Amino acid sequence: MRINVRLSNQPASQNAFPVIPERDSVLHSWCVQAQWQAPTIVGGRAAHFWDADGNDYLDMSSLAGCSNLGHQHPTVVDAIRDQAERLCFITSAWGAQPRAELAEALLEKAGFKNGRVFFTVAGADANEHAVKFARQARGLPQGWIITRDRSYHGTSYACMALSGDARTRHQVDPERYAVARVPPPYAYRCPFGSSSEIECGRRAVAAVADEIDRKGAESVAAVLMEPNAGTNGIVAPDNYWPGLRELTRSRGVFLIADEVMSGFGRCGEWFAWQRYGDAGKPDLMTLAKGLTGAHLPLGAVAVNENVAKHLEKQMLFTGLTYCGHPLACAAGMAALRAYEDEKLIERSRRLGAAMFVELKRLRKQHRVIGDVRGGHGLFAVIELISDPISRAPLAPWSQTPSQLTALVKKALDLGVSFAARGNLIILAPPLVIEERELNDALALLDRLLSEMEAA
Ligand SMILES: Cc1ncc(COP(=O)(O)O)c(C=O)c1O
Repeated sequence: MRINVRLSNQPASQNAFPVIPERDSVLHSWCVQAQWQAPTIVGGRAAHFWDADGNDYLDMSSLAGCSNLGHQHPTVVDAIRDQAERLCFITSAWGAQPRAELAEALLEKAGFKNGRVFFTVAGADANEHAVKFARQARGLPQGWIITRDRSYHGTSYACMALSGDARTRHQVDPERYAVARVPPPYAYRCPFGSSSEIECGRRAVAAVADEIDRKGAESVAAVLMEPNAGTNGIVAPDNYWPGLRELTRSRGVFLIADEVMSGFGRCGEWFAWQRYGDAGKPDLMTLAKGLTGAHLPLGAVAVNENVAKHLEKQMLFTGLTYCGHPLACAAGMAALRAYEDEKLIERSRRLGAAMFVELKRLRKQHRVIGDVRGGHGLFAVIELISDPISRAPLAPWSQTPSQLTALVKKALDLGVSFAARGNLIILAPPLVIEERELNDALALLDRLLSEMEAA
């Protein structure tokens, strides 16, 4: 029996328009085309979306970790409609009110007084531009960028070079993009053999220091990393991010926080680095996803006063036709208002803490769970293993074990959409999810893990 039923505000018939299957006409991301099979989604509300046959799904991943406000948030939809009636588009050669408002609001939320914002279309181009700006501000047009293994920054060519992602690694040579990667702060399987979280975090920072020193700090433009949530599934030990901040400052290298997934309440703060206060404040940060709650595509690079000063008198050799698209910026402003008015950042912190307590209980209950990570906001990772002693993964990274594929399929048949990546279940529900819905989904997960173990 499905745990979800039709919502009262969901129209009985969604089929006012013919549903055109896209299986044979669209190239889909991250899949073998011949295997793509998915229902056509025709509507959504809060933490739910539903398909053309009226099947309702509880969204436990905010789709791609982006629908932080849930689906069809009324404030955002209204703002898009209002802005569309006034002005859909004007290039950034001209001013646009929603663009100005959103830039100011973002700088204020970040505490980037006298900083500036460059708007992009998504997360990948935000990261590319952050790298461009950091290099320009350092006076190193092709300066080194240090990133880490097991990271994800997007799939444009430069972003594949920046990402330590097994799926795209073979497509690009990072050295040709002046990118150097270092081992990750993955305490459960510490690449430095450390037995404690803190020691692993410390040695991971030391690895960045060694890499900067090997290249020579004078030739390194920036360190670019995800401060918390990410599809790589690593949640760094608490000393990692502040350690990076201290290190980069001491070497005169910029620190770029990729907040594309971790921002806008996902980790219980506006931006994940804020958990550390000023001790975590980066020089640049990139945003997308939750910036509009995915209602429209929009990304951004926020730079602090120092970087802004460097750029102020120089020609900026870059541009995007849709840079600061007024419709998308209006959606962004409305999204910021919704996070604030509905106290969603605090809500994420509270529900995330409760979710993490439950996940720790599940870890004790299920031998297939090796580790649970998260606890800061509505983001958590469950890592599945085949042997608790050796910690052998259920499948070699980054393959998804068949048992996990089956679990996700069973859950979907019961009306709950979970995200899996490799051996990981990544929990990142919309911040508006009802407590009861969250509890039901976790109870379902508990049951399906028991069935997996019994099989
Ligand atoms: C941390 C991080 N950075 C960058 C990106 C790329 O963003 P986009 O897909 O909008 O280009 C993603 C997407 O998942 C992400 O999680």
